[in-house]
Amino acid sequence: MILVTGGCGFIGSAFILDWLAAGDEPVVNLDLLTYAGHPGNLAGVQDDARYTFVRGDIADTALVAGLLATHKPRAVVHFAAESHVDRSIAGPAAFLQTNVIGTGRLLEASLAYWKSLPATQADAFRFLNVSTDEVYGSLAPDAPAFTEQHRYEPNSPYSASKAGADHLVRAWHHTYGFPSLTTNCSNNYGPRQFPEKLIPLVLHNAIHGEPLPVYGDGLQVRDWLYVGDHCSALRAVLERGRAGESYNIGGRSERTNMSVVRTLCSVLDSVKPRAEGGRYEEQITHVADRPGHDRRYAIDDGKIAGELGWRPEVAFDEGIRRTVAWYLDNPAWVQSVTSGSYRDWIEQQYGA
Ligand code: NAD
Ligand code: TYD
Repeated sequence: MILVTGGCGFIGSAFILDWLAAGDEPVVNLDLLTYAGHPGNLAGVQDDARYTFVRGDIADTALVAGLLATHKPRAVVHFAAESHVDRSIAGPAAFLQTNVIGTGRLLEASLAYWKSLPATQADAFRFLNVSTDEVYGSLAPDAPAFTEQHRYEPNSPYSASKAGADHLVRAWHHTYGFPSLTTNCSNNYGPRQFPEKLIPLVLHNAIHGEPLPVYGDGLQVRDWLYVGDHCSALRAVLERGRAGESYNIGGRSERTNMSVVRTLCSVLDSVKPRAEGGRYEEQITHVADRPGHDRRYAIDDGKIAGELGWRPEVAFDEGIRRTVAWYLDNPAWVQSVTSGSYRDWIEQQYGA
C-alpha cells in the first residue's frame, strides 16, 4: 500500500482516484483539511475498503510514525502543502510551517520507518516529493526551458518554501541514502481545482457575471499540464524513477495568461452563451500586478521522456474543454467550496 499526504486537495485527490481505478493497491490519505482540502473530492471512494482517510498534520511526527508502523507502506507520495502564491505573499508563515517544517518532520518519520524495514522492503521503498517548476525562478522570453540542472532561484515565499522542501529531500538522499525523488511540474489544471487559481477563478467569475482579473499586462507565460497527465507521470516516476533524482514534468503547452483567459472565454461562449448576450471577453479586467510576479516558466521534459518514456497526452484545448465541462456540470462542488472563508479571501485579494 501507499501513504499519500494532501490527498484531499486538487492534485492529490486526482492521484488517489486514478490510483484506485488503475489497480488494487490500497491508499492511506493523510490530510489536515485546510481551506484547500475537501473530503468530498474523494466521495467516489470513501466506502472503498482500499481507501483510508486520516485527518492530521504532516508535521505531527508521532501521528505519521504511527501510520507508517501500522500500515507499512511501500511508498510515500507527498502532495501536502500550502500551494497558492498570492496567499504566500499575504501570509508566508503557514508556508514555512507546512512546506518546510512539515516536510522536514515527514522526512524524519519516514527515515526512521525506512531504517526499520527488512532489506528487500527498504530497497523497494520510495519517497516521492511533489514539487513545482517555480523553484527555478523566472525565464527570459527566449531563454531555454528549465532542465533539472537549472539553478534554484525561487522568487515568492511559496516557491522559496517549496525549494526548502526540495533541498531537505535531496539532503536526506545524500546523507542517509534515503530513497527519495522529487518531481517539478508546471501549472496543473483540471477538475476540482480550488477557485483561487487562475483557471477555476476565471470560470467561476465568468459564469457569475463578475470581472475576470488579469494581473498586469497578462503576458506572463506558464506551461499548462492537465492533472490526469501529471498523475500518470507521477506513477511512472514512482515505478521507474531512479532514487535521488529529480524529474521535470510539463504539458508542452506554453501560453500567456491572456491567451488562457481568452480561450476560456471562447469555450464558454460556445457551450454556455451569456444570458444577457455579448461575449465573456468583455468581463476581462486588468488589475494590479502580483508583487515579484515571475514572467515565464517553461519545462524541458527530455529527462522524463527519455528515461521513463512518459509524455503528456492531453492537448491544451482538449484539457480546457474537459475542465470547462466539469465546472459547468458540478456547480454544487463549487458552491460547497466557496464558503465564507473563500469570500473573505476574494475580498482581501481583489477588493469589493
Ligand atoms: P491544494 O492546495 O489543492 O491541496 C493541498 C492539500 O494539502 C489540501 O488537501 C490540504 O488540506 C493539505 N494540507 C495542507 N497542509 C497540510 C498539512 N500540514 N498536513 C496535511 N495536509 C495538509 O494543492 P494542489 O494544487 O493539489 O498541489 C499539490 C502539490 O503539488 C503541492 O505540493 C504543490 O506545491 C504541488 N504543485 C501544484 C501545482 C499546481 O498547479 N496546482 C503545480 C506544481 C506543484
Ligand atoms: P496561479 O493559478 O495563481 O498559479 P501560479 O502563480 O502558481 O503560476 O496563477 C497563474 C498565472 O495567472 C500567474 O501568472 C498569475 C496569473 N493570475 C492572474 O492574472 N489573475 C488571477 O486572478 C490569478 C489567481 C492569477
